[in-house]
Amino acid sequence: MRRLQLTTAGESHGPGLTAVLCGMPAGLQIDRAAIRHELRRRQHGYGRGRRMQIERDDIEFKGGLRGGETLGSPISIWIPNRDFENWKDVMHPLEIDADTAEQRRLRSPRPGHADLAGGLKFARRDLRDVLERASARETAARVAAGAIARQLLARFGVEIASGVRSLGPVGLDLPTPDWNQLSAMNDESPLRAIFPELEEQMLELVDKAKQEGETLGGSVTVVAHNVPVGLGSHVQWNEKLDGRIAQAVMSVPAVKAVEIGSALKASSGFGSHAHDPIAFDEEVGWQRSSNRAGGTEGGITNGQDVVVTAYMKPISTLAKGLPSVDIDTLEERLSQYERSDVTALPAAGVIAEAMLALVLTDALLEKLGGDSLAEMEAHWEATKRLQRAWPSS
Ligand SMILES: Cc1cc2nc3c(=O)[nH]c(=O)nc-3n(C[C@H](O)[C@H](O)[C@H](O)COP(=O)(O)O)c2cc1C
Repeated sequence: MRRLQLTTAGESHGPGLTAVLCGMPAGLQIDRAAIRHELRRRQHGYGRGRRMQIERDDIEFKGGLRGGETLGSPISIWIPNRDFENWKDVMHPLEIDADTAEQRRLRSPRPGHADLAGGLKFARRDLRDVLERASARETAARVAAGAIARQLLARFGVEIASGVRSLGPVGLDLPTPDWNQLSAMNDESPLRAIFPELEEQMLELVDKAKQEGETLGGSVTVVAHNVPVGLGSHVQWNEKLDGRIAQAVMSVPAVKAVEIGSALKASSGFGSHAHDPIAFDEEVGWQRSSNRAGGTEGGITNGQDVVVTAYMKPISTLAKGLPSVDIDTLEERLSQYERSDVTALPAAGVIAEAMLALVLTDALLEKLGGDSLAEMEAHWEATKRLQRAWPSS
């Protein structure tokens, strides 16, 4: 990100998480309840482990706001880890109990996790030192920051939603969902399935995986609606918005592929079925009869909804374990089991929403400039006037 910067800190079972969000304009009234709502959404979902019952995430502001309004200074957020109480002996930042820490030491790296590569890279004997930061617990900080970004986007009419598109093989062949389908879905349903007729089958599959000590992946689609034309740019590789979205969404733990629009389907057919015809209407202006491109062309938003699908691999911690090696004895040993989710797809959608919100906010700040919300809004009015008058202006 360029204008907006997010840094997070904190370990999964440490005292808590910090998010520092820099670059937000002054003068935005922050709705704390809306941030809490997003954090609740991240904790929801069938197939999650017991941790989600322990944590009831809440936030405290430590800087950047006064009387609920942004000051233009870094916004600092604190999310306490309630589970820290149970891990104090092992995870206290200053004093730990050596015997307890040794008992809970992670010695057999879990395939699919950062354990082995991180242990080698940072020269850690206890792979917990890697696990604790690589854990998806960190994404609570991203969701809190993303919830602030969404509040700025909302001032410009932008809305974001997501849902589970497929779970394992269920739903994989259905067409790319659009904004209307996402708006109609039940966000409170156990799996947040976009196609409700699939939810029962998905629930059964999660139960089956759990019984067998297995895990599941799938895909989530995120749509941003009412996105202004002209975010991102074709002029430089690292300004292209599709690339910036892909990086941000790929950074969601366990996401291994990111699709914009209907790219997978388009890649297997002829070009005449891959693009979105252009038309002009005196009343409405520029129009497209389809949105296969998913809202960006040449790395620039084109006024269509931005549609992103993230594909998540099955969760790496299997109750039945996977082949690994004990780093003390170098003997074969099944990977250690840490309390784990069977699937985290519904939550991954909420995190991907936050990442998309951060990228779009960054691009909006870049496009409009301004240090205060009022200045951004004035620039926005001027931009809209110019775009309406184009090409005669
Ligand atoms: C919301 C969420 C919850 C997750 N929960 C778990 C979990 O309980 N157990 C697990 O092994 N992996 C879980 N993951 C995935 C791991 O964090 C991830 O696979 C791991 O850190 C390695 O990173 P990578 O898959 O991106 O390479 C979760 C991911 C997300 C997005």
